[in-house]
Amino acid sequence: MNGAANPLAIWPPAASASAVEADHLILAFTVLTLLLTVPIFIGITYFAFRYRQGVKANRQHTETRNSAVEMTWMIGPFVLTLFFFFWGARMYVEHKTLPAGALQIDTIGRQWMWKFQHPGGQSEINDLHVPVGQNVVLHMISQDVIHSLYVPALRIQMEVLPDRYTDLWFKADKPGTYHLFCSEYCGTDHSVMGGSINIMDAGDYQKWLGRAGSNVTAAAAGEALFSSYGCSGCHQGQSTVRAPSLVGLYGRPVPLADGRTIVADDSYVRDKILNPNDNLVAGYKQVMPSFKGVIAEDDLLRLVAYIKAMDLRTGSAQ
Ligand code: CUA
Repeated sequence: MNGAANPLAIWPPAASASAVEADHLILAFTVLTLLLTVPIFIGITYFAFRYRQGVKANRQHTETRNSAVEMTWMIGPFVLTLFFFFWGARMYVEHKTLPAGALQIDTIGRQWMWKFQHPGGQSEINDLHVPVGQNVVLHMISQDVIHSLYVPALRIQMEVLPDRYTDLWFKADKPGTYHLFCSEYCGTDHSVMGGSINIMDAGDYQKWLGRAGSNVTAAAAGEALFSSYGCSGCHQGQSTVRAPSLVGLYGRPVPLADGRTIVADDSYVRDKILNPNDNLVAGYKQVMPSFKGVIAEDDLLRLVAYIKAMDLRTGSAQ
């Protein structure tokens, strides 16, 4: 495992370009901090020694003023540190902006394991397999308490929260096996809530997907749930109960009864399944039962995947 290569190394190995850049930023900022503080400490030490009690020295205070020098020591470090502020801010924005067309892996944290679901329907516990050189989004939610997914080799970390989706993305460029951890104290077995991330060549990843085996994609599994939970009974064309069709819903703005408009994203769809009374859609009466405590997070993610796919397969649910 190259994740545990050298116990004396300052940093764990870096498996992505942004991990390398994060190291450069921290290293450069550390060097700058040393350049700005070491001379001051040398000065303090020298003067403390030079003017210590009992030593003959000229202790007369003659006032001298040099604005140019004062401006230099104020503006110089300010501009230098500002440079690092913008460098860090740029990386932060990059980290927070999800790339379009990325491979989405649904991630569920729970006491005390990680569950990963690939779009093809393959799922795995604690060991995550991802392809190298491709943008990967981990779409995460917790089934119980707050967890946090941390992959040191990629220099990424994100809280995993109950009732709310959070996303984390990366593009690994060094194949290998690295550690992943839960970095938020979450109960008795927090310390063993971890696993590994296997970064593989595209071909190996395809082979792994084949071996991991799944004959239903996440969206197809969602479609089966859609009828088994009775959703299709109301949300499909021939229904006697008047409920909105969900075809083409995903990603579109939805007008609400109270006049607001809300975009139908993953969180909206999930919330409507669990709390149908919230955010009532304009023109419809509230008749849908709540599925809170009935549908588990992994099935909710499959239902979202199905509803997301509906507009791509127009008519399939009409
Ligand atoms: Cu989950 Cu700590």
